[in-house]
Amino acid sequence: MPVHPQPIRPTPASSDGSAQVSATTVSLRDRFILENRTAPTEDDASAAGQDVIEGLTQTPKTLPPKYFYDARGSELFEQITELPEYYLTRTERQILETFAGAIADEVGTCDLIELGSGSASKTRLIFSAYQQRRLPLRFVPVDVSDTILEASAHDLLEDYDNLTIHGLVATYEQALQDLPPTDLPRRLIAFIGSTLGNLFPEPEQRFLQAVSQALASGDYFLLGVDLHKDTATLEAAYNDAQGVSAAFNLNMLQHLNWRFGGNFDLTQFRHVAFYNDHDHQIEAYIESLTDQTVALQALDLTVSFTQGERLFSEISRKFDTAVLTAELSEFDLEVSDIFTDEQRQFALLLCQKQS
Ligand code: AVI
Repeated sequence: MPVHPQPIRPTPASSDGSAQVSATTVSLRDRFILENRTAPTEDDASAAGQDVIEGLTQTPKTLPPKYFYDARGSELFEQITELPEYYLTRTERQILETFAGAIADEVGTCDLIELGSGSASKTRLIFSAYQQRRLPLRFVPVDVSDTILEASAHDLLEDYDNLTIHGLVATYEQALQDLPPTDLPRRLIAFIGSTLGNLFPEPEQRFLQAVSQALASGDYFLLGVDLHKDTATLEAAYNDAQGVSAAFNLNMLQHLNWRFGGNFDLTQFRHVAFYNDHDHQIEAYIESLTDQTVALQALDLTVSFTQGERLFSEISRKFDTAVLTAELSEFDLEVSDIFTDEQRQFALLLCQKQS
């Protein structure tokens, strides 16, 4: 299978800039549908916070990663992606700048389903490649935030006149169970940003199984992953000098404070992140600086911490392309191309579903 290291060759967004002008003459509404798959039920309401109770009453204590992402957490994550030490986002962007055209040429007209699309800023590079080739594309962004989906769809439709959008307010599982029907010849599911690395091996396998089941023979899967590298580079990326990674991790406690009436004192905890080179993963914890008891009123929960006790908050796994290629093929996902940067820090794997 071809492996494509480097040439850093930016793909211009538009050859003559005319797309932005013509898009404004078409009603954006005609090209945008938003479907909500997450209507809250009574069960969801009564389950709110159950995961926090479970996490804080087990040993070692833990919290589900979704508590990273309140408004402040999302803002801090955006800041992380721009830190000098956090090479992941800019390297993946460079790879897409170089290879989005190759992806468009191989996949052709399709439904592009992006899991965890957010603002879709890197995906724009793929849209530009399709636009340059005048290839129609339907974008199916999947995100749990309807606000983000609406805002990003509006900007994208103005910038890309070859695009229609069917947004899904949904979790990955909800979306993969039942993708919107399509008239286009194939589907491309994109899961970029190395979010796969935040899953433990078991959920990762369930996720790959769900991706494989959602695809028909000949459809594509584009996966962005962070690669093995030296410990110093990795640890710097999760312990930046400005302390943004620390603020992002500790913000989980602030999130619990406002959501569940908690009284976590953030000055009494510290951020810890290190590379476990046996399991090839960054592990992040929130460590208690003292013996202390914290209450979460809305959950009727009191939790004690001993000095030095660590609450597990996140893993970020790093991958080897050969191992991952073999794993993907167990799910009938055959890697056809590996796109990487000059230093081989990060990789995008383009896979095709086998029959
Ligand atoms: C979202 N995810 C890919 C990030 C990562 O690098 O694992 C989350 C993150 N946590 C701390 N810094 C960034």
